[in-house]
Amino acid sequence: MTAPDFSTDLTNAERAPRKLHVVTHGCQMNVYDSARMADLLRPLGYTTVDTPEGADMVIMNTCHIRERAEEKVFSALGRLRVMKEEQGGNMMIAVTGCVAQAEGEVLAKRAPFVDLVVGPQSYHRLPELIAAAHRKQGVVIDTEFPAEQKFDFLPDVAAPQGVVSYLSIQEGCDKFCSFCVVPYTRGAEASRPAASVLAEARRMVALGAREIALLGQNVNAYHGEGPDGATWGLARLLAEMAEIAGLERLRYTTSHPNDMNDELIAAHRDNAKLLPFLHLPVQSGSDKILRAMNRKHTADDFRRIVDKLRDARPDIAFTSDFIAGHPGETDADFADTMKLVRETGFALAYSFKYSPRPGTPAAALPQIAEEVKDARLYELQAELRRQQDAFNAATVGLTTPVLFTGRGRYEGQIAGRSLWLQPVVVAHGEALNGQVRTVKITGTNTNSITGVLLPREQIAA
Ligand code: 5AD
Ligand code: SF4
Repeated sequence: MTAPDFSTDLTNAERAPRKLHVVTHGCQMNVYDSARMADLLRPLGYTTVDTPEGADMVIMNTCHIRERAEEKVFSALGRLRVMKEEQGGNMMIAVTGCVAQAEGEVLAKRAPFVDLVVGPQSYHRLPELIAAAHRKQGVVIDTEFPAEQKFDFLPDVAAPQGVVSYLSIQEGCDKFCSFCVVPYTRGAEASRPAASVLAEARRMVALGAREIALLGQNVNAYHGEGPDGATWGLARLLAEMAEIAGLERLRYTTSHPNDMNDELIAAHRDNAKLLPFLHLPVQSGSDKILRAMNRKHTADDFRRIVDKLRDARPDIAFTSDFIAGHPGETDADFADTMKLVRETGFALAYSFKYSPRPGTPAAALPQIAEEVKDARLYELQAELRRQQDAFNAATVGLTTPVLFTGRGRYEGQIAGRSLWLQPVVVAHGEALNGQVRTVKITGTNTNSITGVLLPREQIAA
């Protein structure tokens, strides 16, 4: 499919060199989308700059998952408004992402200095929307769910995305967990065709990627059209990805327990490039709350999946997401969550206080008191912290391949990631970006581990 030539919608003056600043909030899918928007605007004369000062255009790619994320958007917009005034109004401000999708009209009223509001499904239309914003007074809003898939219209990845590159393969969600805005902001689940994913992965590797993280709100529900006409699941896609020369590591995020099928579990045994690492959100350990959350699995279902994955890949590390204080959660329910956490053992986990989101079913239920939510979150995070420290401590003395990604915080240090995605810091004078080298883990810091590079001869021995 050829991309429509939106550039003809812009006058020559509008196509003159311009500075673009992109701010990204929220998840890795937003990071990916931000990079693709920059790729899309580059041929129109936009070069990315690191700060908003002096920028001709600022894109704020937003997150709506919890209330605090949304508040961040409005305070950041307040700062941009001042900057725009200081530049005599010469700064086009676009709000994209999930806040744009969910709050389009409200945003236009609350922040009328914004020029453009664009939902996640319409990024490919940005050039024509920018042209429209140049010509129109007032805010231009596009929060449709267009029939065409934006991926078919976005240009090829043009700029290096880093040694670790993120590639969106699936978007949207049909699961409708009671607490979650994603099905409303990102729409119905849709998978990209495998050929387009593979072509993009090859391009990322040619541009320097050594690890690719496949992204989707429900990435393990991937069911893209294969080049052979059959529907490919994630395991099949990962198998083909592993054939790409120069690509060292693969992972995927975020997954739902119900889509962890046997084929995908077997991929953790058979696919040598797949990291022994899985982010598998469980949210709660109480069957009653899991039911209230509309998760459609029990705590024991989760335990069984974890066991199967550990059978397939004994050194696999798990991370997860938890919500404390979902409506209806009693002390006994929360104790079930703590029990599940203690029994499973996580390398890392993210935990959040339940945050009522407008339009979601759980927001309409009687809410748990703020102090109760705070106390539960505190207890949960203390246990998760203990587990993270224990996991890191247990890796001391092991040797692990580390993919180096950049410099450490201090002079003479380089940094990378272990097989279990722990940040690793090594004292070494020379940059090893993009290389996988064997490291003996020697110690732990708060959120990282330290190690020493093993000489190549020693590894061979
Ligand atoms: N309140 C708190 N946490 C939430 N999450 C999603 N929606 C909410 C909400 N309303 C958490 C879930 C999800 C992660 C991305 O964010 O744990 O897995
Ligand atoms: Fe939200 Fe994930 Fe549930 Fe979908 S599966 S509704 S994205 S928490």
